[in-house]
Amino acid sequence: MTTTVARPTRRLTPPTRKWLLLLHVITSLGWLGLNVGNLTLTVTGLTTDDPTTQHIALGATYLVGGPLLVPVSLLAYTSGILLGFYSRWGVFRYRWVLVKFVLTTIAVLLIPLSLLPGLEDVSALVSAAPANQLVDIGQHGASMLSAGIVSTTMYVTCAVLSVHKPWGRTRRAG
Ligand code: HEM
Repeated sequence: MTTTVARPTRRLTPPTRKWLLLLHVITSLGWLGLNVGNLTLTVTGLTTDDPTTQHIALGATYLVGGPLLVPVSLLAYTSGILLGFYSRWGVFRYRWVLVKFVLTTIAVLLIPLSLLPGLEDVSALVSAAPANQLVDIGQHGASMLSAGIVSTTMYVTCAVLSVHKPWGRTRRAG
């Protein structure tokens, strides 16, 4: 006969949990907002015929993303993990949390390894070009566009999962 022993859940006091949830909602939706903003600037930079607009739009992606993307994504990620760890949701116990964890782990790694170096290169290309000349950013355009579309879709999916909490428990949780 097998007996199942329920694992106790570590809990936060209600006020602490509320502050943590507030931090999580502000930073995770802020992260989504940063992506929508960067995607808008990228589309503008790639489609405009006006060199001034192009330089401002493409330069601004690094100006905004450079200082904000790493701290905002890390705060959203760690606050989400803590909310899961200190509640009945866990991090690996429910499928909706696990999917959020996997999606955001990929994003948190790709930001410093791929996204920010690309934005920095584009910013350097734009700064080096004469102000009255459109810049050809080559392969960077397609990368920035696909990164913006994929990450925005991922974070919207995370927001939908957080509110609807679908799919029940993982097999690991029994
Ligand atoms: C871009 C990424 C993310 C977005 C947009 C997001 C969004 C949200 C939102 C809007 C809520 C509030 C839901 C509610 O109160 O009904 C929430 C709660 C929560 N999130 Fe996230 N989140 C993200 C990443 C993560 C990560 C990485 C984890 C953990 C692995 C996580 C775990 C949780 C947990 C456990 C809650 C508490 C749910 C509750 O107690 O009702 N989130 N998230």
